[in-house]
Amino acid sequence: MKPCTIIIFGATGDLSKKKLLPALYHLNIENRLTADTKIICMGRQEMAQDEWKSLVSEYVSLKARDGVKADALDNFLSKISYFQNDINDAASYQDLQKILNDPAQDFSSNIVFYLSISPSLFGVVGDQLAAVGLNKEDKGWRHLVVEKPFGYDQKSAAKLEGVLRKNFTEKQTYRIDHYLGKSTVQNIFVFRFANLLLEPLWNRNYIDHVQITHAEQQGVGGRAGYYDGSGAMRDMIQSHLLQVMTLIAMEPPADLNDESLRDEKVKVLKALRPITEDMVDSHAFRGQYSAGVVNGEKIKGYLEEDDAPDNSVTETYAAMKLYIDNWRWRDVPFYLRTGKCMPESKAMIAIRFKKPPQELFKDTEIGTSHANWITMGLQPDNTLRIELQAKKPGLEISAHTVGLETVENEDEKHKLDAYEAMILNAILGERSLFLRSDEVDLAWKAVDPIIEKWTKEQDFVHKYEAGTWGPEQVSQIFDDPCHQWRNNV
Ligand code: BG6
Repeated sequence: MKPCTIIIFGATGDLSKKKLLPALYHLNIENRLTADTKIICMGRQEMAQDEWKSLVSEYVSLKARDGVKADALDNFLSKISYFQNDINDAASYQDLQKILNDPAQDFSSNIVFYLSISPSLFGVVGDQLAAVGLNKEDKGWRHLVVEKPFGYDQKSAAKLEGVLRKNFTEKQTYRIDHYLGKSTVQNIFVFRFANLLLEPLWNRNYIDHVQITHAEQQGVGGRAGYYDGSGAMRDMIQSHLLQVMTLIAMEPPADLNDESLRDEKVKVLKALRPITEDMVDSHAFRGQYSAGVVNGEKIKGYLEEDDAPDNSVTETYAAMKLYIDNWRWRDVPFYLRTGKCMPESKAMIAIRFKKPPQELFKDTEIGTSHANWITMGLQPDNTLRIELQAKKPGLEISAHTVGLETVENEDEKHKLDAYEAMILNAILGERSLFLRSDEVDLAWKAVDPIIEKWTKEQDFVHKYEAGTWGPEQVSQIFDDPCHQWRNNV
């Protein structure tokens, strides 16, 4: 580990309070921040150092695993300082630069700039940092960490890229998709490439279809103002679920180098069969929750949320069917879905295999054959289940489904938050967990025609009652009448 300076823009915002500061606190406990690493928290308000430190103590205490420890907290707070900054004001960047260069203050010149601010401000921050030379790597490295949304379609994402590229190189840019920081998502990679057993079966000859589900019980809450301009397709599918899909579908990389890995993910995205306007209805589906009950609690409908426009057709549920036109996957449907106000909060992958080629048992009590499944639970639990048919004990030839299952129960100490992995890797300069600009571009290309058509069609959206698994009409995207969503791991 090398010392570094972590500068958080938007440090008083929600993401920083709930995720970044607690993640840094935990990294510090795990000795992943060197003794001389320092964290500068930038915010607009005027605030005394002590006031900020007591706020940070509160944020961290709320999230600390095993409760907060006084000496660990003191040590963490000793690394923290508050810096009042007006994002548009050149003078405050000059002050920042002076502080960073002041030998008495001893800040490391390896710097992570974490932009926990609206993407509309990336440009001005980049320009101001460049104006005082803080983007230059002549003394130490400079890593720029940015958060989604990376645009709202392919065109705006390209524009945003232009803004970032003006002052920082691709190698300096770390685009966060927090799903890649989840250890259960990283397990997909290990499961696939650390086992020989699966590889011969992992293709169109044996796999019938793949399902990737993200369901959450919570609704949009107070975020309807933001969410209404986004919707589930942009918010979850374009980013997190397409990333999970690339990990399921990619070829083994040549090595674990970050570029080798991202090259393979990009190849999957490049091979996606384009969805043209006339294909949208058979390949994508949207829904919006109405009032209902989730977990015993009454939930108001999306349109009753404070900031949701009365006639909004923004989707809180979206499903999509994709084909990857390469040798491994041609004609195997990948079904992706996500929804808010669902009966459970979970993310999972379900892979259905084809049936055996011969109905050998059809005249016995076993009857017609069952397909095997492999399921992977990503959250809340990390599970892996392989389902097989086995003979029931007794004289008759009858069978039942048996599951070979592992449940990796993480103890509290190891229940890492995805942001810990993301921040640590941004410090280490390890980019495989971050999105490359071509990945972002191709992911938008995949969903753009759907978003465009949905934006044009403002008169109707399927409704589903909060607390259900979404509208039944979603089955219109299935290739085969026997396909249906699997809701359990
Ligand atoms: C975010 C979306 O990127 O991911 C949210 O903006 C969503 O709407 C969240 O709730 C889901 O993340 P997780 O880690 O809770 O599954």
